[in-house]
Amino acid sequence: MWLFGFSPTKPRNLWIIGAILLVILLTIILKKWAIYLEAQAYKCSMEKAKRNCENYLQISNLCCTGVIRTYALEELKVATRDFRIRIGVGATSFVYLAELGDGRFGAVKRVMEERGGSKKMFLDEVSVLLRISHPNLVGLMGFCLEKGEQLLLLEYVPNKSLFDRMHTFRGQSEGILSWSNRLNIALDIARALDYLHSQADPPIIHRDVKSSNILLIDNDHAKLADFGLCKLGYNDRYGSQSPTIVKGSFGYVDTNYLKTGHVSSKSDVYSFGVLLLELITGLRSMQDSTTLAEWTEEARKNDSIEVLVGLLDPKLNGDVNVEQLRVLMEVANSALLENSEARPDMRDIVDRILECMELHQLQSELPV
Ligand SMILES: *[C@@H]1O[C@H](CO)[C@@H](O)[C@H](O)[C@H]1NC(C)=O
Ligand SMILES: *[C@@H]1O[C@H](CO)[C@@H](O)[C@H](O)[C@H]1NC(C)=O
Repeated sequence: MWLFGFSPTKPRNLWIIGAILLVILLTIILKKWAIYLEAQAYKCSMEKAKRNCENYLQISNLCCTGVIRTYALEELKVATRDFRIRIGVGATSFVYLAELGDGRFGAVKRVMEERGGSKKMFLDEVSVLLRISHPNLVGLMGFCLEKGEQLLLLEYVPNKSLFDRMHTFRGQSEGILSWSNRLNIALDIARALDYLHSQADPPIIHRDVKSSNILLIDNDHAKLADFGLCKLGYNDRYGSQSPTIVKGSFGYVDTNYLKTGHVSSKSDVYSFGVLLLELITGLRSMQDSTTLAEWTEEARKNDSIEVLVGLLDPKLNGDVNVEQLRVLMEVANSALLENSEARPDMRDIVDRILECMELHQLQSELPV
C-alpha cells in the first residue's frame, strides 16, 4: 500500500511512474538547454557591444582628433595597480587612480553590474563622452570592454570635488572658497551645461548636476563629471512623451520632472539653481528632510538685501559683493521656478553671470 491505494506493482501504475520520470528528465534537459542558450545570447550581446563601441570609435575618429582609444584590460590593470587606489564612488561604479606611465594620470571608472550597472548604460555613457569636448567637461581618454569588465579611462582632475571642498572637514583644510572663487566655478559649470544643451549634437541633458559631480581644477576652475545618467537628443519635444523613471540626486532633482516624469534641459537648469544656492549659503542640498530650495524659499524671494545677506555662508565672513549676490539670487530664483518653461536657459544664465562679474570690475575701477 502506497499513497491512497497506489500500488507500484500494477502495470497501469508503472506507466504513470514512467511518465513522471520522463517529465522530470525532460525538465532537466530543457533547463540545461535554456542555460546554454542564455550563455550564447550573452556572448552575442558582448560581441555586439564591442562592435557598437568600434562604431562609436569610428565616429569619434572621423570627427575628433582620435586621441580616444581602446585599452586592453591588462594595460588598465597595470595602470591602476590592480585597482588599488579608489578615488571615487558612483551610483553603479568605483573610480580608481591610474598612472599612465608617461607621467600622466587618469581616472578609471569601473562599472559594476552587481551595483546596478549594465552594458547598455556603459555604452550610452561612452557614446555621450565620445561626442563632447569642452574645457569644463571631464573628457574621455579611452575605454575597455573585455572579460565582462566595463572600464572608462577618464581625464584625472586632482583637486577634490566641490562637495568635498564645501562640506567635508578634509576639503576645508585646503581653505575656504572665496566669493569670487564661487562665482568663477558657477560660470564654468554654466558654460559646460550650455555646451551640452546647445552645442553638442545631438543635445545632451546631464540629469545629475550636483556638487559631488563637480571636480575642481583649481580654486577658480571646475569640470563637470559623470555622464552616466545623460540623455541624448532630447529636443524632440513631441516624440519623447514617454515618461522616464526619475533619476538624479536628492535635493537637486527638478520638482516638475518629479511630478511629470518628463525630463528636459530645464531640469538641468533647476539643478544648477540648487547648486547656486549651495555656493551662496554653504549648505548641503538637503536640510533634514527638506530640500535646500524649500528651506531657503521665503528668504531668497525677499526683496530686502539684509534678508539675502542673512542667507550667506558664514564661512565667507562677509566676503561678498552685495550687487553680485542680488543678481546670483535672481538667477537661482528663476532657475528654480516651478514652471519649467519659464526658467531661463543656460545661455541666458552664462550671460547673467558674466554681466555680474563685469559689475564687480566696474566697481573696483571706480576712483575712491
Ligand atoms: C591642485 O592640485 C595640485 C596637484 O595635486 C596642487 O599642486 C595644487 O596646489 C592644487 N591646487 C589647489 C587650489 O588646491
Ligand atoms: C522680508 O523679510 C522681512 C524681515 O524678515 C519681513 O518683514 C518682510 O515681510 C519680508 N517680505 C516679504 C515680501 O516676504
